[in-house]
Amino acid sequence: ALERTFSIIKPDATARNLTGAVNAVIEKAGLRIVAQKRIQMTRAQAEEFYGVHRERPFFGELVDFMISAPVVVQVLEGENGIARYREVMGATNPENAAEGTIRKLYAKSVGENSVHGSDAPDTAKIEIAQFFAGNEIVG
Ligand code: CMP
Repeated sequence: ALERTFSIIKPDATARNLTGAVNAVIEKAGLRIVAQKRIQMTRAQAEEFYGVHRERPFFGELVDFMISAPVVVQVLEGENGIARYREVMGATNPENAAEGTIRKLYAKSVGENSVHGSDAPDTAKIEIAQFFAGNEIVG
């Protein structure tokens, strides 16, 4: 079924002017960008977004990175969109990412890994709602 997922083009990618390059991979993979905006995340937004990782040793570093430059937040739509986008992104650590994936092509490290995508339908709903009003998503 058609499914929506939440995506972030992260600071390492926006800083290198790779927004269009990442979007080209997304669109070639058959995913449709149905909402998109470039924002400077606040510390509070980043801490809320990554709340499940609060106890991890890399949490502080992760939040600092996510507010270090603008990000592009997106809603993507496609058949099996959540799993599809995870394939397109590649493994979290670019060293393990498959050829042709966004992270293989562009990510710098496990922390500066260019993109985020939701991992399940319930988290996709929550993540989309944190950044977009219903009327900002046009399928
Ligand atoms: P993301 O999919 O956005 O969700 C959690 C993020 O934590 C993940 O991508 C990585 O960028 C980041 N992350 C995971 N492991 C590490 C690590 N060992 N050091 C720094 N960042 C990490």
